[in-house]
Amino acid sequence: MLTQQELKQQAADAALALIEPLVGPDVIIGVGTGSTADLFIDGLARFQGRLGGTVASSERSAARLASHGLKVLDLNDVTTMPVYVDGADEIDGHLHMIKGGGAAHTREKIVASVAEQFVCIADESKLVERLGRFPLPVEVIPMARESVARSLVALGGQPKLREGVTTDNGNIILDVSGLQIDDAPNLELIVNNLAGVVTCGLFARVGAHIALLATQNGIRRLERS
Ligand code: 5RP
Repeated sequence: MLTQQELKQQAADAALALIEPLVGPDVIIGVGTGSTADLFIDGLARFQGRLGGTVASSERSAARLASHGLKVLDLNDVTTMPVYVDGADEIDGHLHMIKGGGAAHTREKIVASVAEQFVCIADESKLVERLGRFPLPVEVIPMARESVARSLVALGGQPKLREGVTTDNGNIILDVSGLQIDDAPNLELIVNNLAGVVTCGLFARVGAHIALLATQNGIRRLERS
């Protein structure tokens, strides 16, 4: 029986195998945040000196990439990337995701938006029938904490401040449980439109293109239909 850590490693290795044929001096890889993304970063080290560079979705991932001698570029200097590789807190059969367990979802969404493909790497426990058991992370500008919280309650959620967390952008996170996520793309739009919300952790309007989900029987690959 493989442990969750071993499954995460398998998913990271599957993504490394996927990108290997793309590796070249002009190729830039987008890199996510989290424990699975960390394993991907550690494996990416083998391409050090053979890649054009990377773009990180957090200060944490940037530091890890740099510690392996991988070049970390400013997104403003990059026009395109073939792939962005990242984990997820939940993913469904449409490849819609909830992200932000690591408080990095705003930068994750920004970097992913510049990539041609989002490759989600996770262990199979992240695959759900319906999104929403994992509380939805919402990044909020601090002065809007209470007004946004009231709006989230009106949407049927129970927001809770993530204590002691400040995002890389200097904001707070409200984790919202109890939301009925029947139409993830629409809810993403509604929450993102609340005044004071920077981004919510729903990745449904643009979800993953490919999911590499590690199971006890090997990698299960899902593709956006
Ligand atoms: C960070 C994220 C992560 O991708 C998500 O929390 C999954 O993390 P892990 O790979 O540690 O399970 O969205 O903001």
